[in-house]
Amino acid sequence: MFFVLAISGVAAISAAFYFFKTSKEMPKTWYEWKTELRFQYIGMVGLFEDYLYRHRNKVVLYKQPEKVVVITGGNRGIGLRIIEKLLECEMTVIMGVRDPKSAEKSVGEFVDLKNSKGKLVIEKLDVGSLASVREFGKKIQQNYEKLDILINNAGIMFAPYKLTEDGFESHMAINYLGHFLLTHMLLNQLKKGGSEGKNSRIINVSSVVNLIGRINYSDINMKKYYYPATGYNQSKLAQILFTRHLNKTLEEEGSPVQVHAVHPGVVDTDLFNNTSTTHIPIFKKILFKTPEEGSRSVVFAAIDLSIENDGGTYLSNCTRGPMHPDAKDFEKCKKFFDFSCDLVKLNNFGDGRV
Ligand SMILES: NC(=O)c1ccc[n+]([C@@H]2O[C@H](COP(=O)([O-])OP(=O)(O)OC[C@H]3O[C@@H](n4cnc5c(N)ncnc54)[C@H](OP(=O)(O)O)[C@@H]3O)[C@@H](O)[C@H]2O)c1
Repeated sequence: MFFVLAISGVAAISAAFYFFKTSKEMPKTWYEWKTELRFQYIGMVGLFEDYLYRHRNKVVLYKQPEKVVVITGGNRGIGLRIIEKLLECEMTVIMGVRDPKSAEKSVGEFVDLKNSKGKLVIEKLDVGSLASVREFGKKIQQNYEKLDILINNAGIMFAPYKLTEDGFESHMAINYLGHFLLTHMLLNQLKKGGSEGKNSRIINVSSVVNLIGRINYSDINMKKYYYPATGYNQSKLAQILFTRHLNKTLEEEGSPVQVHAVHPGVVDTDLFNNTSTTHIPIFKKILFKTPEEGSRSVVFAAIDLSIENDGGTYLSNCTRGPMHPDAKDFEKCKKFFDFSCDLVKLNNFGDGRV
């Protein structure tokens, strides 16, 4: 334990050193420093928990050839290793990716696609574009009568300020709103895929930083003021509030679908490309989870039988983790859900129509 704490301390100091010297997004105001420090602190807590609970970070794979799963992203990072596991379970896996050609090659590096009993289907999707989500969603609606699992995985972190073609701040658009719309479009198929005692599942790949997120209702797209960590944290809290409200609604109406949010761990992927950690790769190699380890909690949430009928949870290292206080207040979750419906102009969430 001492060894890990010592390494963490040294790494934090080294990270700070490089941060001072090299960061592209140097904090300028007290607010930015505070945000940065809170982010670093929560990251350290995440690293510590990943070490402490590493024995829990396990998932048992079993054959489920009848299941159909949709995942966003997955051509690299954690998603790629999620797909590897789902194909090992012999599922049909539909990937929604920006570049379908390279995606098949990426998966092929981990899975013998010719001999795999799982089936890989690759479709084009830019989750940051509502038009692209609509097109992708319609294709899935037309081709699959039922679905068993939806994994909202694609994401970005610490991107420079950008509004998408729909006018949304890019973290909010890609990490949350595109997935919100996709879930609306596929919910009918997911309801058909589930049955009593065998719920279908929706997994929102969120993050431990939800704990320090805040929804800025008066300036959701951060037009007046933007700091990348604030954008990321907001989008990750958004996923949790959505998870909580949707799961409650589905439970109340008796629909056989459960919803989970997952923190995959602090994982060595390209997600950190806009952060100072890229300057000290050894820090990531030693302390972060590998993408394979990061994929376990997500697959656990998607298939583990021990959590059947136990939706609405936030999972980390294959066990329940602490959520943002707002996520425990269903009125706040509903307020945000209604706000999201207004943002993407949905009158009847879940009816699949756009
Ligand atoms: N790594 C961590 O420590 C960590 C911690 C907590 C949560 N997470 C969450 O885990 C998820 C996966 O992250 P990762 O670490 O695997 O990151 P990554 O290696 O950077 O992979 C991100 C994935 O998202 C896809 N993506 C990004 N923008 C997209 C868009 N507009 N449309 C479609 N796909 C898009 C990427 O596809 P392209 O190749 O087309 O860009 C890629 O497949 C994210 O939601 C992230 O927030 C990660």
